[in-house]
Amino acid sequence: MKSIQVGLLGIGTVGSGTYNVLRRNQQEIQRRAGRGIEVTMVADLDVDRAKALVGPGVAVVNDARAVIANPDIDIVVELIGGYGIAKALVLEAIEAGKHVVTANKALLAVHGTEIFAAAHRKGVMVAFEAAVAGGIPIIKALREGLTANRIQWVAGIINGTTNFILSEMRDKGLDFSVVLQEAQRLGYAEADPTFDIEGVDAAHKATLMSAIAFGIPVQFDKAYVEGITRLGAQDIQYAEQLGYRIKLLGIAKRRSSGIELRVHPSLVPAKRLIANVEGAMNAVMVHGDAVGTTLYYGKGAGSEPTASAVIADLVDITRLHTADTAQRVPHLAFQPDAISFNEGDLPVLPMSEVVTSYYLRLRVADQAGVLAKVTGILADAGISIDAVIQREADEVGGEGSTQTDLIILTHDCVEAQMDAAIAHMQALPTVLTAITRIRKEELA
Ligand code: NDP
Ligand code: HSE
Repeated sequence: MKSIQVGLLGIGTVGSGTYNVLRRNQQEIQRRAGRGIEVTMVADLDVDRAKALVGPGVAVVNDARAVIANPDIDIVVELIGGYGIAKALVLEAIEAGKHVVTANKALLAVHGTEIFAAAHRKGVMVAFEAAVAGGIPIIKALREGLTANRIQWVAGIINGTTNFILSEMRDKGLDFSVVLQEAQRLGYAEADPTFDIEGVDAAHKATLMSAIAFGIPVQFDKAYVEGITRLGAQDIQYAEQLGYRIKLLGIAKRRSSGIELRVHPSLVPAKRLIANVEGAMNAVMVHGDAVGTTLYYGKGAGSEPTASAVIADLVDITRLHTADTAQRVPHLAFQPDAISFNEGDLPVLPMSEVVTSYYLRLRVADQAGVLAKVTGILADAGISIDAVIQREADEVGGEGSTQTDLIILTHDCVEAQMDAAIAHMQALPTVLTAITRIRKEELA
């Protein structure tokens, strides 16, 4: 049978990995897919570099539209990135009747509804395993492996750059800015690392997982996004002393009133496996009503790990290429007409309605009655305290210090309750600096 012909748009880190792994493992892949899968055309802005990366049989152009226009190309793989030209090219490829594979989480988290609707109309597949957690087959697990379950929550370390930074801050007691420079030197963080460190990249991925887990549209604009830039080495150490690690988690959780969709630093019990995921590695936990809690671990980025996911999509499409469109696995796991587009059905909840527990650190005057006032405010707000630690003033501010740190762990409460309590505590004259609040996830 004739090979499936693939056109690559962009042959950078992931594109070159895809080309190399497809070539290296072509026989194994063909035995699995049932027919050959061949990259026959590549578009990249740097044609000379692209030509040096591929074999002589591959046509290299600098105009991505020439790939889309080629009638012999069955699958277009978009590996350019971003929301600009990538969006136009993906929509044009769909319009031209091509199946699309992309690793572009930013594009799908923001424009997924439009893209999947266009693909549904044209009867083509849009596959995006590489868009979440790189080499970990989490999309496949959520969409197919766990299809029997009513999924309760998904929580993951889905940004390698920030996990590397947090691991280094904990291991070496260094501050954020120092480790960020190290991450850039090692090539983990981009020259402009904003999307990683501000939690945006993780929120793109969490948004995609929320859609597949709960049958809701992709709604990045409703996600709560908080990065790691304000975390101090001090809080990482205090958390450690209390038996927790701080991780940047992407969380999608079902509540009776709707879906929580949020990314923020979280205290996670050190005894959980996910708390021990270090460096640039990724891990995702999924809790389904039938299966219980499951955990998926691996490399979330890099040339060949990400290519592994791109090629898995190519194989899936190759196998289903000739199948009736109704027999294909839906893009977002749920049949398109079964997705809750009606906001009232399963809304993404505002952060004020999220329920979680908290770590609070207050820099206070070391005076009689301060602890009682603070705990009194929490009690008045109906917030139950799990643990309180008051540091020795000397340890915090040096010998003779008149200030100390008060660290409080709470039980679950609604975020709005905590916002109000923090505002009250902050107004106390004995609370000397801005209160640090980090959410806590038991992931039990
Ligand atoms: P790179 O920047 O390494 O590669 C992108 C390539 O696209 C470059 O070679 C670039 O050329 C080329 N390009 C840019 N504009 C055009 C255009 N108009 N037409 C044709 N080619 C173009 O990116 P990555 O490979 O790292 O990322 C690709 C996608 O994969 C992104 O969506 C990213 O988020 C996603 N991803 C990346 C992972 C990783 O580990 N890197 C992991 C998971 C997902 P030039 O360099 O000359 O500008
Ligand atoms: N910037 C991302 C990360 C790359 O650090 O995880 C993979 O999506």
